[in-house]
Amino acid sequence: MTAMTAVTVRVPAKVNLQLAVGPAREDGYHDLVNVFHAVSLFDEVTVTRAEPGPSRLSVAGGLDSHTARVPLDGTNLAARAAELLAREAGVEAAVSIHLAKAIPVAGGMAGGSADAAATLVACNTLWRAGLSDADLHALAARLGSDVPFPLLGGSAVGTGRGEHLTPMPCGGRFTWVFALAEGGLSTAAVFGEYDRLRPDAPRPEPDPSLAAALAAGDAPALGAALSNDLQRAALSLRPELRRTLDAGRAAGALGAIVSGSGPTCAFLAADGAAAGEIAAALAESGHCARTVQAYGDVPGATVLPPSAG
Ligand code: C5P
Repeated sequence: MTAMTAVTVRVPAKVNLQLAVGPAREDGYHDLVNVFHAVSLFDEVTVTRAEPGPSRLSVAGGLDSHTARVPLDGTNLAARAAELLAREAGVEAAVSIHLAKAIPVAGGMAGGSADAAATLVACNTLWRAGLSDADLHALAARLGSDVPFPLLGGSAVGTGRGEHLTPMPCGGRFTWVFALAEGGLSTAAVFGEYDRLRPDAPRPEPDPSLAAALAAGDAPALGAALSNDLQRAALSLRPELRRTLDAGRAAGALGAIVSGSGPTCAFLAADGAAAGEIAAALAESGHCARTVQAYGDVPGATVLPPSAG
């Protein structure tokens, strides 16, 4: 059997349908009730056999202002994922990693986490390392709170710091418009602002109406149930996002929230036609850098057949 030389994995972005944030813990993290929903905005990560040593990284696609901010050294979460998997599997890390990006960078849609999850799957395949899904999940949780979810995809609630996942049924296809902003927001900075604004945050609780709307495929009910405790903090750091949210609401969005820690804004649309109108209104408003349309939920990280890679 000839050795594979390259593996490409397609991995989705996420939007948070509910992000309930508790007070800061001793370790600096926050307990969450974090409802992840994978959407059809995909990065493709290709790992290729290379000389042993630090992974070489390259990046393409997306907004230029975003890709310029992707670190191309060992600090990149994808490079750390390759090293962690190599150590765990007892093989030599010897890959170059190419990130073809559609997910906004530092946009609150877990693009860096998605790339790290995809790298774990790609290296596990390339090196025939044989790690189980449970092994990959454990490694993903060590890399970051949002890294396990893109392995799974679909919809799921994350508890703890977000890494303990329970799948949630999704009874329909939901149509989304995302307003991408120039520049990113640091997740840690947004959590810090949250602590400043909400020193008395209550324990995070799941929202049964959201779970019911998701399971029923009921877009108006889901739109009404969307919530994000980090939104106030993101708006405090980027007040202009309020105008983006208002423009999408005025154009008929069923729900409008900052995605995760932002600055991407997410709008739930009734259908494809409504999504087109929301996207056109957002573009017209001049309050965002670009809009993209997507649907959810979608499966998690998937190895592409070699011909498509
Ligand atoms: O887990 P991850 O490294 O992705 O988290 C990035 C930052 O986001 C953390 O350093 C922390 O400041 C914040 N965070 C948090 N509570 C969580 C998840 C992330 O405070 N549950």
